[in-house]
Amino acid sequence: GDNGREVLVLLGGAGDLALRMLLPSLYFLEVDRLLPHDLRIIGVARADHDAAGYKALVREQLGKRATVEEAAWNRLAARLDYVPANITSEDDAKKLAERIGEHGDLVIFFSLSPSIYGPACQALQAAGLTGPRTRLILEKPLGRDLESSKVTNAAVAAVVDESQVFRIDHYLGKETVQNLTALRFANVLFEPLWDRNTIDHVQITIAETEKVGDRWPYYDEYGALRDMVQNHMLQLLCLVAMEAPSGFDPDAVRDEKVKVLRSLRPFTKETVAHDTVRGQYVAGVVEGGARQGYVEEVGKPTKTETFVAMKVAIDNWRWDGVPFFLRTGKNLPDRRTQIVVQFKPLPHNIFGPATDGELCANRLVIDLQPDEDISLTIMNKRPGLSDEGMRLQSLPLSLSFSQTGGRRRIAYEKLFLDAFRGDRTLFVRRDEVEQAWRFIDGVSAAWAEAGIDPAPYAAGTWGPQTANALISPGGRSWKA
Ligand code: BG6
Repeated sequence: GDNGREVLVLLGGAGDLALRMLLPSLYFLEVDRLLPHDLRIIGVARADHDAAGYKALVREQLGKRATVEEAAWNRLAARLDYVPANITSEDDAKKLAERIGEHGDLVIFFSLSPSIYGPACQALQAAGLTGPRTRLILEKPLGRDLESSKVTNAAVAAVVDESQVFRIDHYLGKETVQNLTALRFANVLFEPLWDRNTIDHVQITIAETEKVGDRWPYYDEYGALRDMVQNHMLQLLCLVAMEAPSGFDPDAVRDEKVKVLRSLRPFTKETVAHDTVRGQYVAGVVEGGARQGYVEEVGKPTKTETFVAMKVAIDNWRWDGVPFFLRTGKNLPDRRTQIVVQFKPLPHNIFGPATDGELCANRLVIDLQPDEDISLTIMNKRPGLSDEGMRLQSLPLSLSFSQTGGRRRIAYEKLFLDAFRGDRTLFVRRDEVEQAWRFIDGVSAAWAEAGIDPAPYAAGTWGPQTANALISPGGRSWKA
């Protein structure tokens, strides 16, 4: 009915993502009184909890990451309910439907193994839960390649319209990622320079100090290419490279991202050896702690990569000849997510040979993690007098967001709010996911054809040595 309460259903509600990220996000929204006022939240999983047991579990997990405010917790707990169910079973889905009863907007979050997204959709439909007021939020991975992604997308499309589908890439919920769009399209300063005429190259790094550890059963099937590049890294690349959308609305933004994805030059057997690096960590030391090699963690031989670097070409007018260097990996020396836009060197130095070494090309650095800031390096005169003439130095003009806020929001907070409001701008459209897979499938096919296995790197280093060779022609280097 039209007057029922809004309901959020968390499928996989007792799982790791739900307890570690989703419920804490809902709690923080509750603290700030940002949840729809009448929202009910129903956890669904196979474990046999009752509502009280589930609340205790949620509360305990929450306590691990925050000092829980009693009043906010009580408000959240009053919304919480739990239904033990195997959501691929029609009977169980009907039990869920009964518990939901009369409802307004119904938001169903899939935090399940994607292999059961299809059967879950069918069961939800049979239980009458896929009507026009339903929205489905789908967590990654949406497939393991183009083929499996199409199967999942088709199973979803069989029960709801694309306008009801919210595919998560949690990077899009991060504050600084949204700020990147503001920086580009709310300032007149950057856009005229944002192309092959002024930009030398772009670097995108997502470095993690974490090992794969207990997640290996999932990770070993995917590897860094599918786990990070297909989604988060390509999304960042799209936001840097896309044309100005006609408005900040879902289809306008996503049309522009798809155009970028379509312009990515596919790798071939011939280019892949030179333009990509595939690595796997062996034992080493990260942040002072000894780490095992990946093979030891998995406990059997494996050729899954835990590091990828690649030089990506975007074949369009704006980016012709401007390489985008991507790198990501586990067990690296630093936690760092960063976009570097490196401008071209000065055409002519009027200050004389003595200042040559002092002249750095301008560089825009966008830090997403662990700090959130944006800085632009600018050349200026060193203050004071010198008997050698004018001396130069580069200094950053910087905007730091780290101190302004207080607690950094979890990306899912923003994404939940948008899903409640029905705004799909920060969610990934079907053709976008599929186009990204098409590119990634090309990389893995080229690796297979060229017989490229991961090269070893010691945990705590920046990947195989060849990652430096990848970027070094033309005097370029990864930003330290
Ligand atoms: C996930 C990957 O999508 O993103 C993980 O599956 C990775 O392997 C994580 O650790 C990184 O996200 P964040 O927000 O911590 O940078």
